Amino acid sequence: MAEPEIEGTLFTGEQIKARVDELARRISDDYRGSRLLLVGILKGAFVFLAELARELDIEVEFDFMALSSYGSMTKTSGVVRILKDLDTDITGRNVVIVEDLIDTGLTLNYLLRSLEARGPESVEICALLNKRVANKVEVPIKYEGFSIPDVFVVGYGMDYAERYRNLPYIAGMKRQP
Ligand code: IMP
Ligand code: MG
Repeated sequence: MAEPEIEGTLFTGEQIKARVDELARRISDDYRGSRLLLVGILKGAFVFLAELARELDIEVEFDFMALSSYGSMTKTSGVVRILKDLDTDITGRNVVIVEDLIDTGLTLNYLLRSLEARGPESVEICALLNKRVANKVEVPIKYEGFSIPDVFVVGYGMDYAERYRNLPYIAGMKRQP
């Protein structure tokens, strides 16, 4: 399928799968016997979470949050609104947040503080991609898939204006939106 706005592939489906399998092994080893709660951040993390989930060989539960940040379509302002909160009481729980991509880090920084205030046993971050050069705040990422340059990416759950989420690989956008 030729997509005019899509530039070259950054990571193929196979490359992503191999890396996700590694992350799943590490998470399984770290949380064996501890009733892990994985919190997927909608919508972008849905593909990543589904792939990760199937490779975990520990007992694990799932919940989801949806966040919206005020700002333009492609840039975060740092003011985050919770559109859908957790159904789960995370008091005393071991939580791993599963996110597609960290850009400025403002969204995750906010979310981390918000979840830590609820009295969990632990909260860690698992992010498939990290645009390190674009980070404005330092976010402690325990499980990181790939570090990428400051390009706008789509596919594998990630969108540009709700498009391209279903691409089975990660690609850069031709025109930087
Ligand atoms: P941050 O608060 O700047 O770290 O924003 C992170 C969120 O912005 C991600 O979870 C994505 O939803 C979105 N985002 C940032 N960069 C991209 C990108 O290159 N492609 C798709 N979504 C992005
Ligand atoms: Mg996101």
